[in-house]
Amino acid sequence: MKCGLFLLLLSFATLGSKAIKRDDFPEDFVFGSGTSAYQVEGAAAEDGRTPSIWDSFVSYGYGNGSGDVASDGYHKYKEDVKLMAEMGLAAYRFSISWSRLIPNGRGDINPKGLEFYNNLIDELVSHGIQPHVTLSHFDYPQLLQDEYGGWLNRRIVDDFTAFADVCFSKFGDRVSHWVTINEANMVGINGFGLGSVPPGRCSHPYGNCSSGNSIFEPYIVAHHVLLAHSSVVSLYRSKYQGSQRGSIGLNLIIFHFEPKSNSTADQHAGERAWDFFVDWMLEPLTHGDYPETIKKAAGFKLSKFSHDESDQLVGAFDFIGLNYYAVLDVEDCPNDLPPYQRDVMGDMSASLPGFQKKGMPSKPQTLERAASGLRAVLEKMKQRYNNPTIYIHENGLPLKHDGSFNDTNRVKHFIAHLESLHDAMRNGSDTRGYFTWSFVDVLELFQGYEASFGLYYVDFNDKERRRYPMLSSQWYSNFLKRGQNMFGKFESFSEPQSMAI
Ligand SMILES: *[C@@H]1O[C@H](CO)[C@@H](O)[C@H](O)[C@H]1NC(C)=O
Ligand SMILES: *[C@@H]1O[C@H](CO)[C@@H](O)[C@H](O)[C@H]1NC(C)=O
Ligand SMILES: *[C@@H]1O[C@H](CO)[C@@H](O)[C@H](O)[C@H]1NC(C)=O
Ligand SMILES: *[C@@H]1O[C@H](CO)[C@@H](O)[C@H](O)[C@H]1NC(C)=O
Ligand SMILES: *[C@@H]1O[C@H](CO)[C@@H](O)[C@H](O)[C@H]1NC(C)=O
Repeated sequence: MKCGLFLLLLSFATLGSKAIKRDDFPEDFVFGSGTSAYQVEGAAAEDGRTPSIWDSFVSYGYGNGSGDVASDGYHKYKEDVKLMAEMGLAAYRFSISWSRLIPNGRGDINPKGLEFYNNLIDELVSHGIQPHVTLSHFDYPQLLQDEYGGWLNRRIVDDFTAFADVCFSKFGDRVSHWVTINEANMVGINGFGLGSVPPGRCSHPYGNCSSGNSIFEPYIVAHHVLLAHSSVVSLYRSKYQGSQRGSIGLNLIIFHFEPKSNSTADQHAGERAWDFFVDWMLEPLTHGDYPETIKKAAGFKLSKFSHDESDQLVGAFDFIGLNYYAVLDVEDCPNDLPPYQRDVMGDMSASLPGFQKKGMPSKPQTLERAASGLRAVLEKMKQRYNNPTIYIHENGLPLKHDGSFNDTNRVKHFIAHLESLHDAMRNGSDTRGYFTWSFVDVLELFQGYEASFGLYYVDFNDKERRRYPMLSSQWYSNFLKRGQNMFGKFESFSEPQSMAI
């Protein structure tokens, strides 16, 4: 499918005239919300936890704030689970802090870490809420970064698999869904290319980090991310899945790429963007090798998979989790440098205004545009990868964290995206769940505490980190409990709905 055709999908005219309802989705469709360990837990130096690469990232001054206390989820998990149950959530997506569970990266389990995640999972299960658990959400022990470079070294594959083994054996009896790596496609590009997410490595002129190599590292890292993911899936399938009966997948951030013009060059740039952001991960996981586009562009920088590695990669997911936030404009941007001087963006020969800076669009976009992109990416996933099972793991709207509980725009955002999702499902997309980001306000990756996404407002100036329901939490609860839709149908909002990031 050509990117240009996406433009034809923008219309909501085919929608029915009724507002979207819970019952428009299958009974077993999972509605949830999520957070991640470093962003919500706090208690960073408590009960035996050691620093992760995210603690270091913020200590370098990146990310606009620290997670030392964050939303204090470590101490408030019982209260939070109670709020989830009252809201009517079917599932909660969270992540396990590797450095809390296994503080040295390898070896001894921290009893306090084990107790915390056991308690959290028990609390969820006893309230009838499915745990959807991520093993690495932009974090792993800083010790492993110091010892051998973390994702840069193949040793991470064995260490990550051993960590996963502990998680499966200790928690797997109660966990329905495992996610190996959050935004697996961004770990290399953003973490080691642009330096915008932990561990914040990059090199001049591609970014301003204290160390790194934007030209080579993203390829090395993505290779190990894929090997680590498939190794963990293989372990789960051979040792645990038969008895525990959960499912396992990986998570990607996904954008709908919209070519800047109808020129063939921009159309091709849009296709290359998809290849670099999505196919880089999903082509190995469906056909056992990297996509031709990337092989051609990156040349010798790209490693090869052995025969056994390819075999282990193919089919190594039960579902794909997608974090969807935005449509990105893409423009052709020819790059004549040789591969050993180009970073990933240079190899892509495309320019994505805004993305290079923060990994997000820099300009506000209309809700209509953002929502229709969700349907377009789901359609593309369906057609390109033989209709895989999908969970929307993240979707939400950042608003200034200013003490207002009136997030009417966020409610409109959810309604519009659910309508778009419903359209995609009516046309065959095998999407099984939708998680809002985030359940409570958390330390945001890019905006720190300046902007937040929570259904519950957290007062970060209050030692108690008290939670307050946003309007959107009432709306979501009402939707889930099949109440009257307070906002009616999404019509069309032409004013910008999202904050510039
Ligand atoms: C976060 O960014 C804002 C705006 O740039 C700035 O005013 C604030 O001081 C920053 N906060 C921290 C904790 O870095
Ligand atoms: C790079 O980062 C350093 C340290 O944070 C800062 O002082 C400097 O101004 C930055 N340079 C550029 C070009 O952004
Ligand atoms: C591309 O062509 C279509 C149909 O001719 C037109 O409606 C659309 O506005 C064009 N898009 C751009 C970005 O020029
Ligand atoms: C919330 O904000 C919207 C506009 O964003 C406004 O129309 C509405 O009246 C506000 N609601 C309350 C309760 O203040
Ligand atoms: C619906 O699915 C069919 C079959 O995959 C596809 O050909 C068609 O383009 C899709 N329609 C829309 C509006 O996406």
